[in-house]
Amino acid sequence: MIRVLPPEVVGKIAAGEVVERPFSVVKELVENSIDAGATRIIVELEDGGRSLVRVTDDGRGMSVADLELAFVQHATSKLEDVGDLDAIVSLGFRGEALASIGAVSRARILSREANAIEGAEVRAEGGVVTEVRPAAAAQGTVIEIRDLFCNVPARRRFLKTPQGERQRCLEVLQKLALSHPDVGFRIEAGRTIDLPPRETLRRRIGRLFGRQTEARALAVQHERGGVGVDGLVVDPDGARRDRAQQHLFVNGRPIRDRSLSHAVEDAYREYLMGGRFPVVFLFITLDPAKVDVNVHPTKSEVRFVEGRLVYSAVRSAVIEALAQRTG
Ligand SMILES: Nc1ncnc2c1ncn2[C@@H]1O[C@H](COP(=O)(O)OP(=O)(O)OP(=O)(O)O)[C@@H](O)[C@H]1O
Ligand SMILES: [Mg+2]
Repeated sequence: MIRVLPPEVVGKIAAGEVVERPFSVVKELVENSIDAGATRIIVELEDGGRSLVRVTDDGRGMSVADLELAFVQHATSKLEDVGDLDAIVSLGFRGEALASIGAVSRARILSREANAIEGAEVRAEGGVVTEVRPAAAAQGTVIEIRDLFCNVPARRRFLKTPQGERQRCLEVLQKLALSHPDVGFRIEAGRTIDLPPRETLRRRIGRLFGRQTEARALAVQHERGGVGVDGLVVDPDGARRDRAQQHLFVNGRPIRDRSLSHAVEDAYREYLMGGRFPVVFLFITLDPAKVDVNVHPTKSEVRFVEGRLVYSAVRSAVIEALAQRTG
């Protein structure tokens, strides 16, 4: 017999796609803070995010009406109609993250808009959402996610050690901090990492990867056929044994893309021996209508309408940057 699944079950299934581990929570919450125009974001982790992820921002905040919808699936303020899906500019658009996270944790949102007299809070426990209540709050939003997967024991069992989860969270935060050097971050996860707002990309790379990397970085600035490639590439002397430090972003969003990694490595080819991989921080910008970010629930893969054009723009951009070395 075919049965329609009850909403709690549907919610848990959907959550499985968006929320893989604590780092997914960190990514979704910080992206929301950035979309809300935050200039300072504090991220606190306990147990590598397994028992607590708390993100505090000074963004535009949420109204009572917003809070009522925050944990509802497919509720978003970022898409007005289907036409918008063809040209996405915000980091979020699916209206799914908070609903998914709220379905598999004990979650709380506390928020106040700039001109509101008081704040409000809403909670969700395993998908059961409370009424919105008034609460004292600073301007902006605090979202606390406790005990991720408390009601999904199979998932909980697959979580790594706190150190392992913490490491993944830090990697995600690194990407977000790189693509938003204008935003200040404070990361409290055992040790505290402080990244002041309004930094240059170069300075931020220095803070995250050390002065040597900063000093060896060459500027990239290239534009052709509506594809912009900017950022920094590190001198071949700074190459590594793995691809872990190839940071690629498309319209501000970190992505993984084999073809573009290949474009980068091809540009470095004459400078690098086999088994050595370049360190790059490349920001590709193009008409949002020419890239589909809605390929995967975590949005880490994209499809380009004109893949060849993007490939050759990246390759040329890196070649030009490396040419400054001797010149
Ligand atoms: N930190 C925040 N500050 C202000 N508003 C927020 C914040 N976090 C979430 N919101 C509001 O809650 C809505 C739902 O957030 P949620 O992350 O679930 O969906 P989304 O960001 O619209 O899309 P996606 O599922 O792709 O992330 C957002 O559209 C936004 O209006
Ligand atoms: Mg979101």
